[in-house]
Amino acid sequence: MKLWGGRFEGGPSEVFERFSESLSFDRKLLEPDIRGSQAFARALARVGVLSEEECRRIVEAFDGILEDARRPGFFDGATDEDVHTLVIRKLKERAGAVADKIHTGRSRNEQVSLDIRMWVRGEIDRAKGLLAALMEELVRHGRCYPDAVIPGYTHLRRAQAVLWPHYMLAWFEMFARDYERLEQARRRVNLLPLGSGALAGSAFPFDRGAIAAELGFDGVTRNSLDVSGDRDFALDFLYAASMTMLHLSRLAEDWILYSSEEFGWLELADSVTSGSSLMPQKKNPDSLELIRGKCGRVWGAFNALFVTVKGLPTTYNRDLQEDKEPLFEAAAQITASLEMARAVVQSAKLKPAVPAAAAEASWVVATDLAEALARAGTPFHQAHQIVGRLVLDSVKRGRKPADWTPEELAAFSPDFTPEMARLLKPVEGMRTREIPGGTGPQAVAAALEEAERRLQSMRG
Ligand code: ARG
Repeated sequence: MKLWGGRFEGGPSEVFERFSESLSFDRKLLEPDIRGSQAFARALARVGVLSEEECRRIVEAFDGILEDARRPGFFDGATDEDVHTLVIRKLKERAGAVADKIHTGRSRNEQVSLDIRMWVRGEIDRAKGLLAALMEELVRHGRCYPDAVIPGYTHLRRAQAVLWPHYMLAWFEMFARDYERLEQARRRVNLLPLGSGALAGSAFPFDRGAIAAELGFDGVTRNSLDVSGDRDFALDFLYAASMTMLHLSRLAEDWILYSSEEFGWLELADSVTSGSSLMPQKKNPDSLELIRGKCGRVWGAFNALFVTVKGLPTTYNRDLQEDKEPLFEAAAQITASLEMARAVVQSAKLKPAVPAAAAEASWVVATDLAEALARAGTPFHQAHQIVGRLVLDSVKRGRKPADWTPEELAAFSPDFTPEMARLLKPVEGMRTREIPGGTGPQAVAAALEEAERRLQSMRG
């Protein structure tokens, strides 16, 4: 069965059918297609195209199709062009001739937009839930080590001491922005396109607001020409997904390093690591490597649709059928990666003594010392030079910050007071950073509390 054909004398070739079918993947849209069609049947009844009885028969038949679809083998042998065609064929099989009326005043162009919007909306909600669960885990993990000091890095070189929970909250912020991006995408996704027709608007006086309310949309789209070729909402989702994957990938990279023998800070659980077929000693961070690897696929999906839409003339073109696989791919990868990341964070253990020793062995306190001099009146540039000489001397003589006495410090500058020597310990310098957003212990405690409040409103 085709939804068109009157104008044709010959049928499509086998190669064209094989090339152009989308049922093999758009079958994922079966449920939104049916839910949308049920709402549309009710709208047709309201404008008098269907009688109450016909509408009831159609709606019930659709329910039956959905139930059938839960059983295996539903799609076996189906050769329909796409899911919309399949649904109407099934409707005809169940409800008979009345099925011929369901497409009155409706185009597949708006229907496919409707179906994708409903599907993406569901995926956004799923991703938001998984993001919130991951963020909750990040806060919980951070709270397990309230006093753990680590060297913070720039250029992957030890830079300044920070608290481990401060580090964990950095990820919280990135994922909070991702959550926000998904919410923003959802606002643009969640508008009803039905009523737009193929491109010019429907010729039947549907109450679009009523259909929107019935299907859980926040409003209706504003221009039929725009709707027919608009996939911005899909790209918004793909961008939000890509950014989330980017953050997951960077977290994975950090933790692959931090759990290496070279760092030795983190112990990843057996449950999220694998061994080697040859080397008996290996415990590899495959879960994190795969998260990092899947980032490429999601960015690929984003790029694929971006390029597909670029250069299309106004309204629908069949190229737009290529929107689905990237969307499905990205949604599957982001869901799986968020679940995996959460499990890794949940089961990872920090060995606080290791990063603490790394902080103490290095010159992460150098800035603290220079700033202490500046606070006491030495112009910062000079203070920087003084501490730089102290570091150079230490490097040459193999001395750690803790090896220096107050008297020795004073030899570098008379402005070094004995009191400043306490800053040779990384924990001390951190206390000077009690600024909102800084790593001072009180600032971090407040940030943790605030993060928990924000999580609560997300669960809201
Ligand atoms: N399978 C098509 C798609 O996914 C449905 C819309 C077809 N519309 C058309 N004018 N051929 O985009």
